[in-house]
Amino acid sequence: MLILGIESSCDETAAAVVRDGREILSSVISSQIDLHRPWGGVVPELASREHLEKMEQVVTEALSVSGVPLSKIDAIAVTQGPGLIGSLLVGVCYAKALAFSLDIPIVGVNHIEGHVYSVAFENPPVEYPALALIVSGGHTNIFYIPQEGEYRIVSRTRDDAAGEAFDKVAKMLGLGYPGGPIIEKLSLAGDASLVRFPQAKISDGRPDLSFSGLKTAVARYVRENAIKPVKEGNEPSKEIKNLAASFQAAVVKALVSTLEKLSIELSPKTLIVAGGVACNLTLHNAAEQAATRLGIPVYFPSKHLSTDNAAMIAAAGFFHLRNKSFADLTMTADISMRLQNAGDYDAIRTGKVKYRL
Ligand code: KG4
Ligand code: ZN
Repeated sequence: MLILGIESSCDETAAAVVRDGREILSSVISSQIDLHRPWGGVVPELASREHLEKMEQVVTEALSVSGVPLSKIDAIAVTQGPGLIGSLLVGVCYAKALAFSLDIPIVGVNHIEGHVYSVAFENPPVEYPALALIVSGGHTNIFYIPQEGEYRIVSRTRDDAAGEAFDKVAKMLGLGYPGGPIIEKLSLAGDASLVRFPQAKISDGRPDLSFSGLKTAVARYVRENAIKPVKEGNEPSKEIKNLAASFQAAVVKALVSTLEKLSIELSPKTLIVAGGVACNLTLHNAAEQAATRLGIPVYFPSKHLSTDNAAMIAAAGFFHLRNKSFADLTMTADISMRLQNAGDYDAIRTGKVKYRL
């Protein structure tokens, strides 16, 4: 089955042609990072206009690189949510119009499920049950996946997403946008043991995550030590590099220790670490070490597939299309689309609380 994937949930316009959910024939990504950089973050209105500008050419390029003519595409998979409404609508409307004109099936894909499927390429097949840590600019969750297509949230952030914390701390230190890759680079020359940031404690004892306290702790450290943000074009000081490394170490420790704790409890056969922050090598190495201790494999997407892309959307779409769960043309963007359909782990554990995602 040849699937055209389309992604436009945030600040990347992407299209890909994927065969049978595992073979990428093309994957084209038009990033808007330069457009949003002067504002220090994604400006929703600018993002949707840019998607509108780029969508047609990105899809055309994906088809031409793949060598597959439009007439040979069997189905379309498009990101339906969660994401920015204007951005999502561009992809969804484009995909629906194309599917209608070609008279082929279409499926709306949850963006986070797409990240889970980013490991479907360049890794052995996932064995279930699996445990997936999805860490991006907008999301930080751990899903228990008893079998393919079933998701139960077992941990989530109570406040900021991990990528968002990287971005905010980078902004605070005058390091630019997006913060994750910049902090990672500076950390290589920094000493992570310089500042020992405390790990967040969740008062009700659930295995959740929290990063806003860490962000505040960095802000306090900056203030108390009179650290000046880096001026544009200047080399960051050793102090800033040490701070970046210490912050990164605290985020990685929180993520990996939670993943490891839940793995001991739930005995998955595979670990998945995906999303924009999964590019981070310190996270990569720490998750590898945890997986070795647990005696199970951990799969990561390659760098190209870590940040938003359409190949992962096509891979997730393949699963739904194979199960004949097609959308119809009433399908529309869903900014708060949820990915939880396998009962509520927390409710099972405590008989209470239901996570909304
Ligand atoms: O998955 P993604 O492209 O978009 C969302 O769905 O949010 O993730 C983008 C996020 C940004 O917050 C960015 O700072 C972070 O991923 N990121 C990283 C790294 N590369 C990207 N965070 C830490 N280390 C990195 N190397
Ligand atoms: Zn994403």
